[in-house]
Amino acid sequence: MAKYELTKQLETGNAVIDAEHRELFKAVNNLVDACSAGKGRAAIEGTMKFLNDYVEKHFSHEEQLQQKSRYPGMAAHKVFHEKYKQTLKEITSSISQSGPTIAGLGKLNGHIGVLIAHINTEDKRLGAFLNNQKA
Ligand SMILES: [Fe+2]
Repeated sequence: MAKYELTKQLETGNAVIDAEHRELFKAVNNLVDACSAGKGRAAIEGTMKFLNDYVEKHFSHEEQLQQKSRYPGMAAHKVFHEKYKQTLKEITSSISQSGPTIAGLGKLNGHIGVLIAHINTEDKRLGAFLNNQKA
């Protein structure tokens, strides 16, 4: 399966956010690898927990940056983050229950696609706003 990577096009211009997005993609790749390599339950569980925890931490960093800078899109951005975390938990717990089925992995991939679209629009908007404030 193709690896996720933070291409130039997906950079927000904020060093912290971009570094965390890079780590996040790494965490997704590790999970997908663990699943498709037929790794044991413990390894898959570990990578899923890491991914959920990392998303939680990263979203809260973004929200702190928004709060500090009085970002006007803060409320809507937070709504997206909450819903995203919820769905990610649902997908990973279904992989926990049924194992890494094709359907489960398809859902996970679809959900990562949603994140990429979010990065490509909302996070880039945030990055531009933060950079403007610094100027
Ligand atoms: Fe975000």
